[in-house]
Amino acid sequence: MTATETSGETPTITVGEHRLELEVVPAVEGSSGLEIKSLLSTTGMVTYDPGFTNTAACQSAITYIDGEAGILRYRGYPIEQLAEKSTFLETAFLLSHGALPSAEEAQEWEARLLRHTHIRDDYRRLISSFPREAHPMAILSSAVAAMPGHYHEVFDITDEKQVELATVLLLAKAPTLMAYALRHSRRQDKPDVAPELGYVADILRLSVGQHRRWEPDPTMVRALDVLLLLHADHEQNCSTSTVRNVGSAGANLFLSVSAGISALAGPKHGGANEAVLAMLEEIRDSGVSVADFMTRVKDKTSGARLMGFGHRVYKNYDPRAAIVKQLADEVLSSLGKRDELLDIAMELEGIALADDYFVERKLYPNVDFYTGLIYRAMGFPTSMFTPLFAIGRLPGWIAQWREMMQDPSTKIARPRQVYTGPAERDYVPVQDRSTA
Ligand code: ACO
Repeated sequence: MTATETSGETPTITVGEHRLELEVVPAVEGSSGLEIKSLLSTTGMVTYDPGFTNTAACQSAITYIDGEAGILRYRGYPIEQLAEKSTFLETAFLLSHGALPSAEEAQEWEARLLRHTHIRDDYRRLISSFPREAHPMAILSSAVAAMPGHYHEVFDITDEKQVELATVLLLAKAPTLMAYALRHSRRQDKPDVAPELGYVADILRLSVGQHRRWEPDPTMVRALDVLLLLHADHEQNCSTSTVRNVGSAGANLFLSVSAGISALAGPKHGGANEAVLAMLEEIRDSGVSVADFMTRVKDKTSGARLMGFGHRVYKNYDPRAAIVKQLADEVLSSLGKRDELLDIAMELEGIALADDYFVERKLYPNVDFYTGLIYRAMGFPTSMFTPLFAIGRLPGWIAQWREMMQDPSTKIARPRQVYTGPAERDYVPVQDRSTA
């Protein structure tokens, strides 16, 4: 009934007597797209692609991933070069403005961000109103959604100046909100920001600093900077697609990013770094051998998975995981600590990389496998791992939202479905319904 032909000049799809010529949307690298907008009107059928494993929902010039080769580039720059030579703030500029900043632009960008990291008292009270047990992702998502209410000037999503201001406010204030959420859960005060320390150093001081004059260790500051940078974008992942979906309805940047934070909280996405630590601790505390644990994650009836392994796109070593693994080693050595959880993680990885189950399914460590160990060494509790991921991902969410808003082909996101419920039937009054 259906046939697709792509070998000739113009790919076509035939459904019964209907023949549709498909336009090719060319990619600079990677898979080009087949434009199927008129499939429904021509053939009466829709595409069925659960989880969007084969659907490009947009054209984007921000991030390129080759999952088979383990390649990740932001705006063309390999992640390895950025991790070695750039900073999180510079990369944030690159992502949202399309080019690396000049020296003057970089200085202005940083100074502008640092002018806005403080949180007003009424906004601090919002954080304090949450129960101490509230998960910081819930606090962060709510607080980001509430930001327009506290900063009225940023509303018009079509005004570039206001969008730039919204970008700055979000990047500046979200880390402070995250730090205050942590301090709130620990019943600690919320110290004022110290912009003179620098963006990343002050995130560390505000989050895990023991007292006002606490000075972060430069090795930890650089490590956190690199970790944030590594998370800065990852093209159309679940949370970024969420940001785009919400934004496609015309929602402002804060509400769209708040939705992205919620999506990121799931254990199959950003929540995985928290789950990895829980898994490593469980192995350590239960005394179960690493080999037995591996048998369990391969048994589908157990419901367990090797957290931090596998990826929808990477069918090779996640390039970010390679950098994080080295960073974990450096950070832990600089602290003079041998972390037994790192030993367990390395043993799990060693077994998995040589095991047919993982090899056949191309399951490799993803970025989450080693990040938690570094965050833990820095003094962050497990509940803060995903919020840190969210702070790292802000530049990507912002850049993708901005790109979408400027794209004249953007339409409100509204997928179709294949209906599988009952066909039409008549309403039955309650007294006539069978109880069986
Ligand atoms: N442990 C054990 N088996 C796994 C794992 C794992 N971590 N990941 C995938 N598999 C198996 C599946 O059981 C399935 O096996 P089958 O073909 O015999 O049925 C096969 O590998 C394919 O898995 P899917 O779930 O279909 O792959 P998908 O692309 O949908 O999922 C995902 C990717 C969600 C990341 C998955 O690998 C997973 O759950 N990993 C653990 C959670 C995790 O680390 N998430 C972080 C992702 S990275 C990020 O968000 C930054």
